[in-house]
Amino acid sequence: METSVDFVIHPIGQLLTMDKPGPVKGREMQNLEVVENALVAVKDGKIVWAGPEKEAPEFEASQRINAGGKLVTPGLVEPHTHLVFGGSREHEMTLKQKGVPYLDILKQGGGILSTVKATRETSEEELLQKALFHLDRMAMHGITTVEAKSGYGMDRETELKQLQVVKKANESHPLDLVSTFLGAHAITREYQDNPDALLDEMADMFEEIKEKNLAEFVDIFCETGVFTLEQSRRYLSKAREKGFSVKIHADEIDPLGGTELAVELGAVSGDHLAVASEEGIRRLAESNTIGVLLPGTTFYLGKDDYAPARKMIEAGAAIALSTDFNPGSCVTENLQLIMSLAALKLKMTPEEIWHAVTINAAYAINRGNEAGVIAKGRKADIVIWDAPNYLYVPYHYGVNHVHTVFKDGQIIFE
Ligand code: NIG
Ligand code: FE
Repeated sequence: METSVDFVIHPIGQLLTMDKPGPVKGREMQNLEVVENALVAVKDGKIVWAGPEKEAPEFEASQRINAGGKLVTPGLVEPHTHLVFGGSREHEMTLKQKGVPYLDILKQGGGILSTVKATRETSEEELLQKALFHLDRMAMHGITTVEAKSGYGMDRETELKQLQVVKKANESHPLDLVSTFLGAHAITREYQDNPDALLDEMADMFEEIKEKNLAEFVDIFCETGVFTLEQSRRYLSKAREKGFSVKIHADEIDPLGGTELAVELGAVSGDHLAVASEEGIRRLAESNTIGVLLPGTTFYLGKDDYAPARKMIEAGAAIALSTDFNPGSCVTENLQLIMSLAALKLKMTPEEIWHAVTINAAYAINRGNEAGVIAKGRKADIVIWDAPNYLYVPYHYGVNHVHTVFKDGQIIFE
């Protein structure tokens, strides 16, 4: 008997289903199962079958999509973005060229603080239109699920405005969004002498954010000149008590022990970790916390200390990759470019990289059961790549390899 479906995708040269128990840790990230000559069948926005074409049941399909022997993978999962912001910071490029460090620009009221000013001055509607524009760009680069942070308000009104934008974008854009409250992103002028008061003000919002279901995660920037380890511990502990999952921007520029703190707090992810200590790496490997590495940021800030991905993987940690898309430290929506940087600068293998942008990235935003995998019953979030095999995407860098993107079984880009 023939099974009726909406469409089948075939012939697929290489199919990566990523269908295994996750998060995928350590050397297991090198074991990539590649299904050759494959077929995927979709009905009502869900995957009904995926595997070798010769084993496929007879499908009565309303549509047959010719994959032309190309590579097919799950839609990419982007686990760390600062999606919602006003203005842009192209004028900082010359400062960077002159060698002014990122944290010095911030100290002078630029950097994150200049985006805070612009975001406070931008209406919710305009922020939404801007966010939708960037989401379209992410979609065309093969991303189907995105984490989005607030953090350019750092006052109640603007932070809520940003979180509302994430909510509305999730409702109106085909991509799935996961919202993070990053009220503790920098110290604004008003609080220069009393950062604890800023943290208290942000923590006072936890209840309201929870009630209105405006964020699932709470995040903080733990860094020299921003929030200390102790402040981060207190703030994130409060967030956990209020029922939030937590994330942390940790060990990005100075090694403050943020990687260890991420593990101590049971954070779902520790992000950046560029200068994580040996002890931090060891603890990360023993934990359930995912290391979200952002080599595009190291590259864009003109730094050399790329995250010790090899050490982390050899130690047994689960690693995900992200753009860190934001207006200052990494201005790109192209996760494929990050895949190339991960290969060239983090020395990650292509097999590890594909785990890091699909299944592990999904676990890094508590979507392990939903996104990043092609398997029966999952959402049909699928990318057909203009690439003959999975090695090709990180290899041929700086361009968009996407042929077709399906979100919930609908073509959203081709
Ligand atoms: O993850 N490190 C802190 N926050 C962002 C940068 C935000 C900005 O510069 O606007 C990051 O790199
Ligand atoms: Fe970030």
